[in-house]
Amino acid sequence: MKTSIDIKGRSLLVLNDLSDEEMCALVELAVELKQRKQSGIRGNLLERKNVVMLFEKMSTRTRCATAVAAADEGGQTEFLAGSDIHLEKKESVADTAMVLGKMFDGIMFRGFKQSTVEQLSEHSGIPVWNALTDQSHPTQALADLMTIKEVFGNFDGLTLMYTGDGRNNVANSLMMGCVKSGINFINCTPKELTPDPALIKFAENIATTNGSSVSVVHEPAAAAEGVNIVYTDVWVSMGEESKKEERIGLLRPYQVNMELMKATGNLENGKLLFLHCLPAFHDSNTDVSKDSGALEVTDDVFKAPFSKVFEQAENRLHTIKALMVATI
Ligand code: CP
Ligand code: NVA
Repeated sequence: MKTSIDIKGRSLLVLNDLSDEEMCALVELAVELKQRKQSGIRGNLLERKNVVMLFEKMSTRTRCATAVAAADEGGQTEFLAGSDIHLEKKESVADTAMVLGKMFDGIMFRGFKQSTVEQLSEHSGIPVWNALTDQSHPTQALADLMTIKEVFGNFDGLTLMYTGDGRNNVANSLMMGCVKSGINFINCTPKELTPDPALIKFAENIATTNGSSVSVVHEPAAAAEGVNIVYTDVWVSMGEESKKEERIGLLRPYQVNMELMKATGNLENGKLLFLHCLPAFHDSNTDVSKDSGALEVTDDVFKAPFSKVFEQAENRLHTIKALMVATI
């Protein structure tokens, strides 16, 4: 590997556990690993390494990315649903961490509380990676940055607008990913879903040192002018299902549709990208959105040439592989 990065033994609980340079180097490493896989090379960077996936919530991409990434480099994975083990029923998070740490080389955790992933890291003695909590989704942000880099070549001078539920896990980590890489970040969301002011302040300080900016706005069309990357996520995150009606009411004006993409002024010049972490409620995803039509994104945007959502999904594999290779 050409990319040099020294983060052996470290965990990724929030994106800022990585310095700006380490984060960008991980994205570079992921690009290298992608090229390596595409050229047919099977590696041994995780040979004889065992990774456990402990998931309290559902997952398609993150689970498959972790399993395939480990297998590609000669490693093995074990999947544990939260309900499979004694976690927080007969056994504390700390004791569970001690046991897993004696058997495995890394823990990929998806769940509800940020404090759970923190305790796993504190007590296991092995690298722990946050595969999504209610608060953050740092491995997603790595894939988002990789996809942006593939499309635009670098991060300089780009502006990303996230529109939708402005205080969810994806929005929080994306904001950090943008300011750490020098991308201007606009969070377009209703007042009721404004992110934690302390997190915004924290991001603003990083943005200042990197020559980028952070803003929270409430009017999508006005905010979209000059934007290069439009990003959205589901309006109701896992664990918040009871809020569905309220969220649809609040977020309808924040839907990503062709009118919003036109408002960027970049539709015709090729400097426009649409991203979504997936799964997405778009109109032809009929099984899930047939009762209410498209929610956060319409089909004409989701399926447009400037939409790279499936490349972004693939990049979950390469970035998670880079993270495991660099930290185990
Ligand atoms: N984007 C993402 O985390 O997808 P999964 O929920 O399928 O893992
Ligand atoms: N915000 C979403 C992301 C899913 C990948 C959720 O937490 O359900």
